Amino acid sequence: MYSEKVMDHFMNPRNVGEIEDADGVGQVGNAKCGDIMKMYLKIENDIIVEAKFKTFGCGAAVATSSMSTELVVGKTVDEALKITNKAVAEALDGLPPAKMHCSNLAEEAIRAAIEDYKRKNGLLSECEMAGSCGRRCDDIHHDHNDNDEEDED
Ligand code: FES
Repeated sequence: MYSEKVMDHFMNPRNVGEIEDADGVGQVGNAKCGDIMKMYLKIENDIIVEAKFKTFGCGAAVATSSMSTELVVGKTVDEALKITNKAVAEALDGLPPAKMHCSNLAEEAIRAAIEDYKRKNGLLSECEMAGSCGRRCDDIHHDHNDNDEEDED
């Protein structure tokens, strides 16, 4: 039921660990299962030059973390923000439908680490500073008072 790529990234995850002098660190959790992912990014001149992760979670979460670190390296911050959980799953040749929610962790961890980087460097937009709901302000103009309804899938 898992693709060869998923099994490969689960058995031999890439970029496991932490970056001591990371420019951005993001930790997210999956409310449904309690799994946790922590993402570390090294960013130079707006380009992500190194990514590492630690995931306490299921095989799909480990595989998507591993793949997402490979996808973000070499990308600009804005390009990395556009990486969706679907793109991570597709890069792994798909995930079983019941495990798609696990890939949300990867997308959210990248976003959280970049938000941390932006906060530390005074790069957050007004909208991003207004709330910590984690949604993409470029894509969705939303009311920050209405931030209790995250994606449900
Ligand atoms: Fe928790 Fe997959 S079951 S992330």
